[in-house]
Amino acid sequence: MKLAKRMSRLGTETAFDVLVKAKALEAQGRDVVHLEIGEPNFDTSKNICDAAVKAIRDGYTHYGPAAGLPELREAIAKYISDSRGIEVSVDEVAVTPGAKPIMFFGILSCVDEGDEVIYPNPGFPIYESVINFVGAKPVPVPLREEVDFRFDLDALRDSVSDKTRMIIINSPQNPTGGFLLKSDLEAIAELAIENNITIMSDEVYSQIIYDDAKHESIAALPGMKERTIIIEGHSKTYAMTGWRLGYGVMPADLAAQITKLMVNSNSCTAAIVQMAGLEALTGPQDEVGKMVAELKRRRDAIVSGLNAIEGITCKNPLGAFYVFPNVTAMPMSSDDFAEHLLQKYAVATLSGTAFGEYGDGYLRLSYAGSMESIKEGLKRIAEAVDKL
Ligand SMILES: Cc1ncc(COP(=O)(O)O)c(C=O)c1O
Repeated sequence: MKLAKRMSRLGTETAFDVLVKAKALEAQGRDVVHLEIGEPNFDTSKNICDAAVKAIRDGYTHYGPAAGLPELREAIAKYISDSRGIEVSVDEVAVTPGAKPIMFFGILSCVDEGDEVIYPNPGFPIYESVINFVGAKPVPVPLREEVDFRFDLDALRDSVSDKTRMIIINSPQNPTGGFLLKSDLEAIAELAIENNITIMSDEVYSQIIYDDAKHESIAALPGMKERTIIIEGHSKTYAMTGWRLGYGVMPADLAAQITKLMVNSNSCTAAIVQMAGLEALTGPQDEVGKMVAELKRRRDAIVSGLNAIEGITCKNPLGAFYVFPNVTAMPMSSDDFAEHLLQKYAVATLSGTAFGEYGDGYLRLSYAGSMESIKEGLKRIAEAVDKL
C-alpha cells in the first residue's frame, strides 16, 4: 500500500526490536537475561485490581468524558497540587491511555512545521520521533556523564533560537537515571520565560527516586505553570504499564485541545482503568514505598557490580530504574558490544545509541526486572569483558 510521506518521519523504540531478537534466541532454547525492558516486574497491587473488578461490576463499561472521569481528574489535580506545590484545577488535567499520548498530542498541539524543539540526547526516543513527525526540527542537547547526565546548560543556551518553540525535559531520566537539580530547573525556566518557550516536563519517574533526592517540578517555579505541560502516569509508580493510564497537567486552553485530539483518536480512556487509577492515587501508598526500596537495593547491586568490572564505569543514578554504564574502553562500539552480549552471552541490553547519537559509548541496563537477573547478567557481562 502507498504510504503517506509523513510515515517515513516516524521513529520507534529500539527496545522492542531487541526484545524480539531476545525472544527469538529464547525460542532456540537459550536462557536469556533481560536487562533491556523498562518495566517493573512488580504486579499491580491487589487494591487497584479489586477496584477494576468492582468498576466492571458497577457498570463502568460505557463511553466516558474524553478528558477523563471527573473524579479521577479531581484526584489528579489534588495529587499534583500537593506533590508539586502548585494550584491545579480539574480543567487543567487531561487523562489519556498511558503517558505517551500526552507527549504526542502535546507536540501536535503546540509545535508547527519548521519550529524547533530542544530535547535531551540520549533521551526517550519518542520525543525525536514525534518532533520529526510534525515536520519540526529536532535540536538535541547532549547529556554528559561529567555532569551526572544533567543538561549541559551552556549547550542548552546555545541551542535556543528564535524558532525554538518547546524544550523537553525529563527528570528522573530515561535512559541515564539523571536527575535535574533545582538550579538546572531555574536556569531552564529563565531561558523559557526570556524566549517565550513552552516546556514539556516528563515526570513519569517522579516517585521512583533514591537517597536524599527530592523531585521538583519546573511548573512550580515563578511564571512557569502557564507555560508547562507536565507528563505523568501510573505505568511506573503503580506498576501499571499494561493498563495504559497516564495524564497531562497544563493550561486549561491546551487541555481542551488535548481533549479534542482524544475525541478524534481514542474517544476516552477505558473507564474501568480510570477507576483502578483512582484507587491507585487515593488508596494506600505502601506498595509504592516497598517497590522503591526494592529498586534501590537493585540499583546498589547493579552499580557496584558494574564498577567492579575492569573497563566499565557506572554513575550512581538518583532516580528511575536504569543505569547507563560507560563502555568506551571496550575494543568495539557500544552497538557491537550490546550485540555481542546478546548473541554470545544471551544478555539483552540496549546500546546507548538507541537513545540518540550522544548515547554512543554507553549501554542502558534496566534493573526493574529481578535481583536474580541482575546477578546473572553481571556475571555474564564480567565473563564477556574478561574474554575480550
Ligand atoms: C521517560 C518516559 N516517558 C514516558 C514513558 C511512557 O509511559 P507510558 O507507558 O505511561 O505511556 C516512558 C516509558 O518507558 C518513559 O521512559
